[in-house]
Amino acid sequence: MTDGNKAAPHRSVLYLFAAVLAAVLVTFAVFVPVAPFFFDDGSGVDDTTAQMEAQDLGFTPLAQLGAIPTPIDNPITPEKVELGRLLFFDPRMSGDGSMSCNSCHPSDQGWSVDTAISFGPPGTSHWRNVGSVVNIAYATSYNWEGSKKSLESQNSGAWGGAVAGNLDKALGEERLAEIPDYVERFADIFGTDTPLWDDALRAVATYQRTLVSRNVPFDSYLAGDQTALGDQAAAGLSLFTGKAGCVSCHDGALLSDNGFHALGVPQNDEFLTSPLRQITFRYEQWAKGATEDVYRTTDQDLGRYYVTHNQVDKGKFRTPGLRDVCYTKPYMHNGIFSTLDQVVEFYNNGIPGDGVENVDPLMRPLGLTQPEVDQIVAFLAEGLCGDPVTDTAPELPPYRDGTLPGEER
Ligand code: HEC
Ligand code: HEC
Repeated sequence: MTDGNKAAPHRSVLYLFAAVLAAVLVTFAVFVPVAPFFFDDGSGVDDTTAQMEAQDLGFTPLAQLGAIPTPIDNPITPEKVELGRLLFFDPRMSGDGSMSCNSCHPSDQGWSVDTAISFGPPGTSHWRNVGSVVNIAYATSYNWEGSKKSLESQNSGAWGGAVAGNLDKALGEERLAEIPDYVERFADIFGTDTPLWDDALRAVATYQRTLVSRNVPFDSYLAGDQTALGDQAAAGLSLFTGKAGCVSCHDGALLSDNGFHALGVPQNDEFLTSPLRQITFRYEQWAKGATEDVYRTTDQDLGRYYVTHNQVDKGKFRTPGLRDVCYTKPYMHNGIFSTLDQVVEFYNNGIPGDGVENVDPLMRPLGLTQPEVDQIVAFLAEGLCGDPVTDTAPELPPYRDGTLPGEER
């Protein structure tokens, strides 16, 4: 399709979008009660433009995480959690038998490997920063572009995907069937004669649902303990919900609107310099159904566009939750920032001009002073940082001839 063909329908869609947006804004401005943070943030900070814009858009008040959301057909039981835990740590659930979920989501690196962009199975690379699996039960879509709607289907791609586990489903089932302890556990939990892929997904998703932040100071603060946040972090919270406008997107219990935004995050040059990265990058364009034109021309991760194929979604990524963000460096979909200071500096500078496609209007300079930047960082790094959620690698069950992973004969 040429650009000329696209232009006409595109414009009318824009008009419609503008009309709907105007209606929504008016509705919010008139009817939506604004959370008390904006009225009494205690910071002595001026009522800036940022604050007013955030107010207009409306947001869900920050809150503690509620009970763990669970699909109706996959309730949490201790036996299923234990089976899921074994599977999460078991490298036999990858094509070449060398990588488990824990290889890329190691429990001692915030459940997300510390490199900017993940590695992949031997001979490949990944193309994105690893997302943490802590609090993943509360997300409403998965992966940076929200391509998966359930944790179970995300995990199927994680075991099976060419740049993740690279395990063929049928091969995976055959491997499980040769491990007597698994056969017994699957029979007890799911009532099957032989382990099934979908049940393995139910188990591994169940294990992850139990990985929830622990003792986050901000949660104690929300529960009424005013001393739970230090002075710096408390001032940072006021800025987060006020002058800096972070709460416009990082709201609700998860500190994420579960929405998609283009921030204009800088490119990661690894894609230009590393052949393996470039191979994966191009492969992903193809695998995610980009048009031939896009496949040939883009040098950017287009994010949400791969799901909707709408121009307006190019460069949008899902807003990540921020509890335990202290453990999950580096940051952003391409791991371009290695510290929280760099992240807040990036927001403070804003995106100059209109060079970035679809960039969110909130991405304009915030005018934060250095002490204010430090306060926001203190809120992120201390206020939102709970006790580490950890687990140690369990002892894995052997194949029926007694061999363990790596000892296969
Ligand atoms: C080779 C490394 C690798 C392996 C192996 C791997 N992952 Fe991931 N995982 C990633 C990367 C990179 C992402 C981000 C992918 C994206 O957004 O496109 C991710 C994303 C996820 C997400 C979504 C996080 C979010 O915030 O949306 C979940 C959940 C997840 N992985 C769980 C698992 C599980 C469970 C396994 C084992 C079945 C696994 N992963 C295996 C690298 C890996
Ligand atoms: C317009 C919506 C929006 C606003 C406003 C916003 N964020 Fe974000 N935030 C996002 C999105 C989307 C991402 C992921 C972007 C990407 O990877 O390209 C993100 C990523 C982050 C990350 C990285 C998390 C991770 O796990 O990689 C941190 C930290 C963060 N934001 C903090 C803040 C702070 C602090 C503010 C206020 C100064 C703020 N955000 C304002 C939408 C927003």
